[in-house]
Amino acid sequence: MSTPAEAAPPRGAGPRLATRVFSAMVLVVLAGAGTLLVVSLLLAPTVFHWHLDQAGVLADSDVSDHVEEAFAVAALASTGVGVLAALAVAAAGSLLVARRLADPIALTANTTRRLAAGDYTARVEQPQMGPELAALTESVNLLAQRLEDTERSRIQLIVDLAHELRTPTASIQATVEAIADRVLPADDETLATLSDQSQRLSRLIDDLASVSRAEERAFRLSLTTIDAVEAARAAATAGAARFARAGVTLHAPEGPPLNVLADPDRLGEVLDELLVNSLHHCRDGDSVTITAARRGATADITVTDTGSGFDPNEAERLFQRFYRADPARGNPTGSGIGLTVARALIEAQHGTLTAGSPGHGAGAHFTISLPTTAS
Ligand SMILES: Nc1ncnc2c1ncn2[C@@H]1O[C@H](COP(=O)(O)OP(=O)(O)O)[C@@H](O)[C@H]1O
Ligand SMILES: [Mg+2]
Repeated sequence: MSTPAEAAPPRGAGPRLATRVFSAMVLVVLAGAGTLLVVSLLLAPTVFHWHLDQAGVLADSDVSDHVEEAFAVAALASTGVGVLAALAVAAAGSLLVARRLADPIALTANTTRRLAAGDYTARVEQPQMGPELAALTESVNLLAQRLEDTERSRIQLIVDLAHELRTPTASIQATVEAIADRVLPADDETLATLSDQSQRLSRLIDDLASVSRAEERAFRLSLTTIDAVEAARAAATAGAARFARAGVTLHAPEGPPLNVLADPDRLGEVLDELLVNSLHHCRDGDSVTITAARRGATADITVTDTGSGFDPNEAERLFQRFYRADPARGNPTGSGIGLTVARALIEAQHGTLTAGSPGHGAGAHFTISLPTTAS
């Protein structure tokens, strides 16, 4: 836990909090004492006269004058002493209040300074000083958590990327060296290998751009009410030719409209990714079925295939960046980020994307859940 910052306050910020609280208290004490004094000096003589009259003391007698004078002096003296005592209490009180208020504020300022300096582990402790300061510390901690997560995923991305780039670059370098050493001829076959590897590099670069955009949510979304059944049918129509060429049957959903709140383009991209993945994991004779069904306040669009499937324990890992369960079987040119991007796109639309499979060789299913809308 950090200690309150000792850094000098910014110039032009005005008096310290303790001074402001003390000034406010002094004003209240003086205003109270003044009002008390004026009211009692205006009211008391009349009340006194009445009582003296009742007691039979003559209004112009010496006793009456003396009593009234005594009252005025007593009122002035006791108010004066009272004001001094109240000021002393106000000074002590304002120091206490200012301290209780200033410490958590200083701690929060110190934490944000540490965050700005790149220390994303910095957090503020809950000050137990009411809902306003609790909300302030909570939002600072939330910001810190977000920065820490982003930094961690940035570092992980660099590590993953370095790992992914190593294979094609090492291969290009080895081929070029072999040509230079005349171990390999610079013929069409060698050049095709070089071209393949450099294409892999450029695909990786494109993938990298889309994964970082998706993970940082740096894309524009336009959420509208769309028919999930229609969206699924459109994705199926777009992929129909590829499926026919591969001998894989593609079933699109039928039925009444099922309205969801989604971005039609982004949903289309995700459906396309799921269909391409399924196609890569299916053989001639397999089939892929898209269904759309309401489930409470959400609608599920599921892509089910009869392809190679995967180990059910692996379901969550499929969504990790650059993760490919069985590179030899799936998309030969894939880099394992399609599902990462797809999940980020669906989560940005307040939905979820999950995967399941009964096991190797038993097919797979991927479900997009999106919030439904009434109309
Ligand atoms: N329909 C599917 N059937 C079996 N495995 C799948 C299916 N779709 C995706 N996978 C697995 O999930 C991994 C990650 O998918 P993805 O992120 O799209 O990467 P890529 O398609 O580039 O390999 C794939 O490499 C594959 O192992
Ligand atoms: Mg893919």
